[in-house]
Amino acid sequence: MSTYYVTTPIYYVNADPHIGTAYTTVLADTLWRYHRLLGDDTLFVTGTDEHGDKIARAAAARGTTPQALVDEVSGRFRRLWPRLHVAPDRFIRTTDPEHVTLVQHILQRVYDRGDIYFGEYGGHYCTGCERFLTEKELVDGKCPDHQTIPEFVQEKNYFFRMSKYQNWLLDHIAAHPGFIRPERYRNEVLGFLREPLEDLCISRPRSRLEWGIEIPFDRNFVTYVWFDALLNYLTAIGYDHDPHWSDYWSGVEHLIGKDILKPHAIYWPTMLKAAGIEPFRHLTVHGYWNFKESKISKSAGKPVDVEPLIHAFGADALRYFLMRDMVIGLDAKFTPEGLVQRINSDLANDLGNLLSRITKLVADHFDGKIPEPPAAPCELAELARNLVSQVPAFVVELKLHALIEETLQLVRATNRYFESSAPWSLAKTDRKICGEVLYECAEALRIAAMILQPVMPAKMNELLARMGEPVERFLLSTGAVWGALRSGVALQSGPALFPRIDEKTLGSVLPELFPTAAAAPASDAPPTDLIEMQDFSRVQLRVAKILSAERLANTDKLLRLQIELGSERRQIVAGIAQHYAPEQLLGRLIIVVANLKPVKLRGETSEGMLLAAKADGKLVLLTVDADIAPGASVS
Ligand code: MSP
Repeated sequence: MSTYYVTTPIYYVNADPHIGTAYTTVLADTLWRYHRLLGDDTLFVTGTDEHGDKIARAAAARGTTPQALVDEVSGRFRRLWPRLHVAPDRFIRTTDPEHVTLVQHILQRVYDRGDIYFGEYGGHYCTGCERFLTEKELVDGKCPDHQTIPEFVQEKNYFFRMSKYQNWLLDHIAAHPGFIRPERYRNEVLGFLREPLEDLCISRPRSRLEWGIEIPFDRNFVTYVWFDALLNYLTAIGYDHDPHWSDYWSGVEHLIGKDILKPHAIYWPTMLKAAGIEPFRHLTVHGYWNFKESKISKSAGKPVDVEPLIHAFGADALRYFLMRDMVIGLDAKFTPEGLVQRINSDLANDLGNLLSRITKLVADHFDGKIPEPPAAPCELAELARNLVSQVPAFVVELKLHALIEETLQLVRATNRYFESSAPWSLAKTDRKICGEVLYECAEALRIAAMILQPVMPAKMNELLARMGEPVERFLLSTGAVWGALRSGVALQSGPALFPRIDEKTLGSVLPELFPTAAAAPASDAPPTDLIEMQDFSRVQLRVAKILSAERLANTDKLLRLQIELGSERRQIVAGIAQHYAPEQLLGRLIIVVANLKPVKLRGETSEGMLLAAKADGKLVLLTVDADIAPGASVS
């Protein structure tokens, strides 16, 4: 048995979880479940990154304390993960006292070894990246990731002698091909290392930033957030005091998005080396989900919320899409339409439908009990055996999209076998063969469900439970053996496993995903598509008065407003709950789009949309600057 310890980046708590952070976390959870299926001793850790400038600034902007902000947002991450069927063994926070102690311990050790010194530095500091950017990294004087001009900061600080480890790192990468993967990111790191590596500034003066871990050998400084955050991977396994820490460490796989390659591939291994700790085993880098060709990360100002997607489509279907549609290492496109297409074709048509067809015939002709298998298995057995034998390689090589596709090929082959054998007519002519066909189809489906269980744990467990399979921890090597399906056991009927998603459901989720899309262009860039006056005049804007406002249950984003619009009263549902308390809104005169087709959001009808301006994650309502009768048109 080998150990497998998988980590996600710990997420900054200056923004809510979104589809990008959800992706890495679902990927870690899925890999963790695959390794359990393969019989490994596993550990899965995620958490939140809570110190530093970014958090201090976000707290100040919201008029709250950093502690209150980190408690609130970290809680949001922690509560979201189970809703996505993500089950980490440990959720770590960098404000945990155990972590603070570890960071100080490692700093002291590296200092005592002579690899930390005091000096002065001036450089271009990007708050978005929380690091100094080199001249070479700037594009037109701006940070290429955040499109902002970094601040020039010059101050006295502590420095880590990172440059000393440049050659060691180059040798280590050359000797360990799986150290940074896929290949393209390994090459990118080798590219960084072609230039001389500078030392890393690892402190911030207290006078500029209070919110950090105190440097143990100088109270006037706090620790730079990356030096603090990266060490979470050691805190989580009880470094130096848990008897098993080194077993887990030897099997570690760090999963990250391409945005944080440099800190993980350069700072982290050199920090470990300086502290006398073995480097990590694998750093696996994935690409970005793009939404209509633009990054969905908070830095691009377009976070796509996860809750409405779970609500409309279900957690397992969303997980399926995320795992199936991204090839690890490459960027992928996220569109709600693509998601629906995946669910309808793979899950509703192929997988769910196969279960319904088999269940129905077994109920009609075999008293709901799984019939007897044939003496010699059909061609599906060979296909299934082949697939099962390839699972470990797909998992180790991180080809989850291909594993899923191959498994769906088995499901599709089973559907074809079902069609061509026509068990519904055999039921009338040869009941025995009919039973054998149904057994074989059910067996292929059972094996496919076992292979897909790490991707869709709840749905696949439900499917297996309907077949009378025990769904506690099972192993692929003993469970996915052709012929293990038990005859005579009840095959329970139930509602469709994956209902088809119709246009209406899709339509209803779009405004919730992009509540202010029409009001707030995503960037400050001038619009490129000019429209005609008559296009604009189709939109009826009117003044409305807010009569009442209340929060909607099960979402922290939406408010239900009753508004007065001339002689009319209407209800609208608006995504402003994180920016306005309901009581702040009473009596306000706002601007609404009055001629939008009504939509349903979380089961509530919304007859219109209010307008708000958006910048830096903050929303501000558009209002009128003098009293005017509700219903007045805006032109
Ligand atoms: N706090 C640091 C990480 C410290 S780890 C020691 C941080 N946090 S973050 O909240 O900004 O999260 C970045 C990570 O979120 C990415 O590396 C990636 O895992 C995920 N993603 C954010 N946007 C994403 C996409 N659009 N697409 C895919 N993943 C993305 O950086």
